[in-house]
Amino acid sequence: MPAPVPPLSPAARGFQAIPLLQRPVPRRPIVPVLGRPPRVHLWHIGCQMNDADHEMLAERFAELGFVPDAALDDADLTVLITCAVRQNAEQKVYGKFRELTDWKQARPGRAIAMTGCMAVEHGPALLQKLPDLDYLFDVRDCDGFFARLQAVHASDLDGPLPLPASDRLLAYVSVMGGCNEMCTYCIVPFVRGRETSRPVGEIVEDVHRLVERGVREVTLLGQNVNSYADPGTGAGLPELLGAVDRVPGLWRLRFLTSHPRNAVPELFEAMRDLPTVCEQLHLPVQAGDDALLRRMRRMYTVDEYLAKIRAARATVPELGLTTDIIVGFSGETEAEFLGTEALLRTVGFDVVHLQAYSVRPGTAAARRPDDIPIEEKKRRLNHLLDLQRQIALERNQGLVGRAVEVLVESVTADGRPFGRTRQGKIALLPAGSAAAGELVEGRVQTATAWQLSADVEAAAA
Ligand code: SAH
Ligand code: SF4
Ligand code: F3S
Repeated sequence: MPAPVPPLSPAARGFQAIPLLQRPVPRRPIVPVLGRPPRVHLWHIGCQMNDADHEMLAERFAELGFVPDAALDDADLTVLITCAVRQNAEQKVYGKFRELTDWKQARPGRAIAMTGCMAVEHGPALLQKLPDLDYLFDVRDCDGFFARLQAVHASDLDGPLPLPASDRLLAYVSVMGGCNEMCTYCIVPFVRGRETSRPVGEIVEDVHRLVERGVREVTLLGQNVNSYADPGTGAGLPELLGAVDRVPGLWRLRFLTSHPRNAVPELFEAMRDLPTVCEQLHLPVQAGDDALLRRMRRMYTVDEYLAKIRAARATVPELGLTTDIIVGFSGETEAEFLGTEALLRTVGFDVVHLQAYSVRPGTAAARRPDDIPIEEKKRRLNHLLDLQRQIALERNQGLVGRAVEVLVESVTADGRPFGRTRQGKIALLPAGSAAAGELVEGRVQTATAWQLSADVEAAAA
């Protein structure tokens, strides 16, 4: 018997942000006076949205006078930023939570907060399930949480603290929240709500600020980023890319995640024409069979998807192309699965993120049987993993001898500088040939399925 799917919280059903939730007992947690600024440990899992929310929460904490980047052992408060996209993501969060119960007991006054997509998915039920959880809040509406913390820690707060110095080269910037697509398997629209875009001016300002702090590569984020529309002017993603491209000092610009339905020629042209916009497109296809795509409510056919890829490659010949695939969706026949296999061979993606279908509460697909046995899901997953390894190897070996631009991010334990190419591929350079923060021109010498090795020919910036 498969485990029953738990219900979705009523707030998630209404696509609304939940208010701060706490235990009704008076003054839980009871926090002693510390005589110093309270220290916060932030932890996240899940997609890049949570990465961006992690940074956003750290900034808010610092503004209020909390130390926002404490190690767990030193912290007074831990905030878990969670993911609900698949059951295994939730299991990891529960695992992390179990580790925290000893941490909490070790010193009186310690507290645990939870936010992110699981907080919305389960709502108040989490407070019942996890007796050590003190605060539960929605990252889309965190004012109540911060007001409560300010009250609890009033005597220990002494004005804003500077954000810790950062040597970050890469940053994420959320340009829109939510998703209006309602793919039948997906919980994201319920836990992130409807699409709301931020104004172009505000986003450009954020990028200016990041570049001033040393960031050189920015990735603009949205669950369905190519449906971005400025709330005032209606400007779309190509115009937004144009505006951000003009920020002086920015070297590279990327964007995630595009829905095939909204992948328009203007987007490919922006990629071709704007110097900072990298030749990389993440275009999740999910499946390679029309009937299966219909059951997933993906709103395109295999032929339409292939036509988009042809157009993208015709406009941007050096395009790095990545995708997401779900195997073992409700009712997936062997023939449908083979359609997905054929699509992988036809397109030749650089990277494929493969996942086994996981039933999510509240979704339309949760009403259909989860009828592909776990062993069969694993077989299909492993089969496509093997196939994709070969495809990636062939594609990367095709790059041997070609020029690549690498933004050096760091150095491996054995001294080799590494970073990503404009197409998003990891490239290792010879020891001592470059330092973190440099943009270099190299030539590919060898390749595996997962990374390139290149030499360095010149500094690019
Ligand atoms: N907005 C993006 C990403 C959504 S979540 C998009 O449209 O593609 C990231 C990926 O998780 C999805 O692309 C999908 O492949 C996978 N995913 C989402 N729900 C899932 C589920 N219930 N089971 C398995 N994989 C899922
Ligand atoms: Fe989920 Fe579909 Fe929206 Fe992506 S586009 S977040 S898969 S509903
Ligand atoms: Fe997970 Fe929420 Fe992202 S469900 S994938 S963290 S939007």
